[in-house]
Amino acid sequence: PRVMVLFGGRSGEHAISCATAAGVLRAIDRDRYEVVPVGITRAGQWVVAADEPERWEITAGRLPEVVASDGEVVVPLSVGDRRLRVLDALEPPRELGEVDVVFPLLHGPFGEDGTLQGLFELADLHYVGAGVLASAVGMDKHYMKLVLAGQGIPVAPYTVVRPGEWERDPEGVLARVEPLGLPLFVKPARAGSSLGISRVDDLDDLAAALAEARRHDPKVLVESGVDGREIECAVLGGRDGERPRASLPGEIAVTGDAHAFYDFEAKYLDESSVELSCPADLPDAVTERVRDLAVRTFEAIGAEGLSRVDVFVTAAGDVVVNEINTMPGFTPLSMYPRMWAASGLDYPALVDELVQLALE
Ligand code: DAL
Ligand code: MG
Repeated sequence: PRVMVLFGGRSGEHAISCATAAGVLRAIDRDRYEVVPVGITRAGQWVVAADEPERWEITAGRLPEVVASDGEVVVPLSVGDRRLRVLDALEPPRELGEVDVVFPLLHGPFGEDGTLQGLFELADLHYVGAGVLASAVGMDKHYMKLVLAGQGIPVAPYTVVRPGEWERDPEGVLARVEPLGLPLFVKPARAGSSLGISRVDDLDDLAAALAEARRHDPKVLVESGVDGREIECAVLGGRDGERPRASLPGEIAVTGDAHAFYDFEAKYLDESSVELSCPADLPDAVTERVRDLAVRTFEAIGAEGLSRVDVFVTAAGDVVVNEINTMPGFTPLSMYPRMWAASGLDYPALVDELVQLALE
């Protein structure tokens, strides 16, 4: 099959998407799949990209970026058409040919939020991962919580601060925020990789945290901080109508004082500040609760293909779902593939399984 590996994109997680693509370009079975790498620039232009993993990796703090001069410009798909067209100096444009499946390794808005998935649906293409609705619900932390809570899945208490509301009615916002206690986490509703997220230990810092979050999204969530261990669980879609499968859980522990939580720097640039353990050292009953909730969360939003479900486990062994990511970070060092490796599925086998699920 011919696989379009699509990465970069318009969101703040552009560089992380490039690093994810580097991992997949390295691991995908070239005897089995023909690969067409296509990058999306920050401005949204699609270009034929170098099939060179090292070009797309995060190295010594350098964040990779797709730029327009990387290659010829691709005209995205037209309706019901499995072809990609390439524009170059020649007229008419040449054909890049048919694609059997797209692997959209994009994180954040305009990639992980259903918009791109809608384009694939219109073009009648097979693609890896969640569809339009599940992607949109997974991207928006407000609707994610409504959908999860509506199906009995425990989530942390929160309030939504809508665009302009803080300016209009700060007293009203504070009245809703105060009962949430401290610390608080202030998050843009639709972003990822912890971009724009602040931990607030003093209500005097709330205004600054709201302003920071609103640099990424005019809609903001203020959440109660859960006192618990940070545990993640990888989910893969089921084959042939079977239920989704959950990996063994992993744990993230932020060490030292440089980061108040698992923020962007700790995730990608200062890896010495975090300890990832997989499988997580949890009592068996708690491991099973995490895996069960991860599968139920996946099903609750109607996800497909893959997702990573992030939870908190309290000292009493209660599990609270923090979020679901429908296109989790996917470099060989990321938690998603590490959790599958610890569960018996190595990185190349995982890539293969995802493409096969999309072709099913
Ligand atoms: N949003 C990042 C890529 C993650 O969830 O891993
Ligand atoms: Mg996320």
